[in-house]
Amino acid sequence: MQLSLAVLILFVLAITISAFRGFHVPGPAQRVDLSTLAQEGPFAEPGLVERAPSRYEAYILASTWEFTPPEIRIPVGSTITFYLTSTDVLHGFWVEGTNINIMVLPGHVSKLTARFEKPGEYLLVCHEYCGVSHHEMAGKVIVEPRS
Ligand code: CUA
Repeated sequence: MQLSLAVLILFVLAITISAFRGFHVPGPAQRVDLSTLAQEGPFAEPGLVERAPSRYEAYILASTWEFTPPEIRIPVGSTITFYLTSTDVLHGFWVEGTNINIMVLPGHVSKLTARFEKPGEYLLVCHEYCGVSHHEMAGKVIVEPRS
């Protein structure tokens, strides 16, 4: 009984502290209209955009059961901001070996910025069950060494 109470107090404390310390999770940056997604806005032509040297934005569409584009290529040391949305159901976006892990919802834009310090191929997968071919929904981030 005392142990249960102690654990409960600990949880309440953890939640309270995280609420006041500016703790934030990747959130929906904006909303998008699914009916016009393919015609207008950055998701009409999904892909990589270079905003400055070593600074990229990636607009990625998640749909059953693929990511568009399925492959992103950046030079090592680049910072990339991912903007993701779904055209149909809830999907996930997880990049192996990194802390990039976000949910992708229809009608919402999920935004996440990351820096790639090591060259290599990073597998990206959908980690939210989205139907029969969920396990095949994958892509990759290719981080190329600088020449
Ligand atoms: Cu998309 Cu699982």
